[in-house]
Amino acid sequence: MSFRLVTAILACFLVPVAVCAAASDDVGFIYQGFQSSNLSLYGLAKITNNGLLQITNNTKLQTAYAFYPNPINFKKTSNSSAFSFSTQFVFAMVPDVPGATSPGMAFVIAPTRVLARGPSTKFLGLFDETTNGSPKNHVFSVELDTFQEQEFGDINDNHVGIDINSVKSKVSQPASYQANNKNSFDNLTLSSGQQMQLWVEYDGVDRRINVTLAPIVAAKPNTPLLSLSYDLSPILLQTMYVGFSSSTSPIELGIVHFILGWSFKMNGDAQALDLSRLPKLPRFGHKKVSKFFTVGLPLLSLLFLLIVAFGAAYYLRRKWKYAEVLEEWEHAYGPHRFTYKDLYIATKGFTEKELLGEGGFGRVYKGVLPTNRVEVAVKKVSHQARQGIREFIAEIVSLGRLRHRNLVPLLGYCRRKRELLLVYEFMSKGSLDRFLFNQPKRTLNWSERFRVIRGVASGLLYLHEEWEQVVIHRDVKSSNVLLDDELNGRLGDFGLARLYDHGTLPQTTHVAGSLGYLAPEYSRTGRATTRTDVYAFGAFLLEVACGRRPIKHRAVPEENIILVDLVFSCWKAGNILQAVDQKLGTEYVKEEADLVLKLGLLCSHSEPEIRPSMRQVLLYLEGSVALPDLSVLAMGVSAVGLGFGHPAGFEDIKSSFATSTDKSFSYTVEDSILSGGR
Ligand SMILES: *[C@@H]1O[C@H](CO)[C@@H](O)[C@H](O)[C@H]1NC(C)=O
Ligand SMILES: *[C@@H]1O[C@H](CO)[C@@H](O)[C@H](O)[C@H]1NC(C)=O
Ligand SMILES: *[C@@H]1O[C@H](CO)[C@@H](O)[C@H](O)[C@H]1NC(C)=O
Ligand SMILES: *[C@@H]1O[C@H](CO)[C@@H](O)[C@H](O)[C@H]1NC(C)=O
Ligand SMILES: *[C@@H]1O[C@H](CO)[C@@H](O)[C@H](O)[C@H]1NC(C)=O
Repeated sequence: MSFRLVTAILACFLVPVAVCAAASDDVGFIYQGFQSSNLSLYGLAKITNNGLLQITNNTKLQTAYAFYPNPINFKKTSNSSAFSFSTQFVFAMVPDVPGATSPGMAFVIAPTRVLARGPSTKFLGLFDETTNGSPKNHVFSVELDTFQEQEFGDINDNHVGIDINSVKSKVSQPASYQANNKNSFDNLTLSSGQQMQLWVEYDGVDRRINVTLAPIVAAKPNTPLLSLSYDLSPILLQTMYVGFSSSTSPIELGIVHFILGWSFKMNGDAQALDLSRLPKLPRFGHKKVSKFFTVGLPLLSLLFLLIVAFGAAYYLRRKWKYAEVLEEWEHAYGPHRFTYKDLYIATKGFTEKELLGEGGFGRVYKGVLPTNRVEVAVKKVSHQARQGIREFIAEIVSLGRLRHRNLVPLLGYCRRKRELLLVYEFMSKGSLDRFLFNQPKRTLNWSERFRVIRGVASGLLYLHEEWEQVVIHRDVKSSNVLLDDELNGRLGDFGLARLYDHGTLPQTTHVAGSLGYLAPEYSRTGRATTRTDVYAFGAFLLEVACGRRPIKHRAVPEENIILVDLVFSCWKAGNILQAVDQKLGTEYVKEEADLVLKLGLLCSHSEPEIRPSMRQVLLYLEGSVALPDLSVLAMGVSAVGLGFGHPAGFEDIKSSFATSTDKSFSYTVEDSILSGGR
């Protein structure tokens, strides 16, 4: 009785002590993710930012180890038998690209934390050529093998095996598991990138190793994948390290091995991992898709938006670029109406290169019509007309019907919001003034000049008397006379004056034309007549004969040289031929020059009634009628004897010029170009 009591007391006393001792000595740990863990890492192994233990990356021919940092006692003494232990971990083997291979990885219990010193690719980092299979290794491992190495008798490239001192497995099985409600195994693919759980248990009494695999979603299967009866006592030393080992393949592409959580327990069941608390794998499995959504899709959207924006901008720009004003009534003028697009293309977008000339009222561009390859001159005139434009266009169109060999054909027009475009036939030689003034490249000789004069006179006569309506040009001057291939003078730019008349140009009075060519009564009354055209023609005659502009500007306006004055004083001095262009030398026909100069003076007379009509002018020029005696006319008009446009006439102009605060007007004078259909 007392003996029983004593043993009972002893038992009661001793058992808790043993239990307590076991509990305090037996190492156990759990990592739900490895954030701030103290693993011993070697080689490629690292802890990712979100707490994954990444054992390998795709660097080739490397080894990697991750061990629990402290040594663990697996035996009481070096001669005693090994303790039981169990471990659970969650892993994922993520291929870089589908079908990539790698040797695999292993859970390992080993005497040191760095195992292979030499190349270890096919040895999973556990051994090298010299150590594989050696009983001195004292390495126990469970391999997760994704490469079939014939040399080691691997059953396939997707198996789990128990390895002792060698990668030639003691036992192995294709990766698979038996769910608890089933009685057959389901295959698993280790390197699918999917998370899986593995349990390794050793029963130190039973001397049996069980290895159980399961997908992350499954509960721990009751039936292990591998169950090997084996005494680990000779293998395991008293203190060992536990951890993971891996090696990488000979090419850069491989399988990245992750451990998400790990628990271990000596002499007991490893604490079950809380799967919900494990860190997240990078979305490797959906790499392509995720790249598509995170990078591709936004990029594509952006690209799409850009394309749409560019498209819209292009469309709007085009629309704006080619925008024109076309009203219902204009459809009647079909053939005379040009599209802005055609003119834009013809002039290469109104480029500076195609610019022929520039005046106060617009620029003239050369162009080739895309429709019929006809060379044209396009005059761009800014206008802000609301009213009057209709009548003006009607006139333009009717002027388009003018046909005379000494007129520049007006082909048609186009209208934009603030612009009117007149399309003339292109005259290859340009305007006459370029052959007369400022050291021209080529000076016209006398017979050419005389022919131009007669041509222009005949064109003007056609306008005044021979067409169905009386057309007053209003801007006869040398810069509005253009020369064709045969150096025929052609009067251009008719019709433009009418635009001013309709009050469509800003800063312009109703009096349009160029200073020096304006008849005094015109600037006084604003009424243009055929006689005001004759006055301008007179100035033109003098220009051509003398090779000078009607007014040569000096710094002081009083010192301006007035061409009419000059010729008049030569005539008064009895030597009118002195006024003939110096550049001609003596190479001119005296009678003709005399006639032209005197006719110029006659046309410049300040009294419109005294000026001849264009029909008379033409008769004089042809020599069929003799010029009246100028002296008689001069004396008849003014006591001072200065009846010819000046000074009375010119004073009028000056005063009208002074009172009209008109910039574009003065611009015209400076430029002497209100350039016509060149
Ligand atoms: C792989 O890991 C090693 C060690 O952490 C690192 O030096 C190397 O840059 C990594 N390579 C790649 C491709 O991530
Ligand atoms: C980490 O492990 C080393 C041994 O590898 C040990 O010296 C150190 O104290 C450990 N630190 C922590 C915080 O556990
Ligand atoms: C262990 O066993 C060996 C022989 O098997 C013996 O020589 C040695 O003394 C033993 N050591 C201990 C500590 O029992
Ligand atoms: C499982 O894999 C093994 C070996 O790869 C194969 O022989 C077997 O047919 C597979 N079983 C199923 C159900 O796919
Ligand atoms: C190992 O598996 C066998 C067979 O399923 C089982 O009887 C035994 O209890 C298991 N041992 C351990 C340590 O789980």
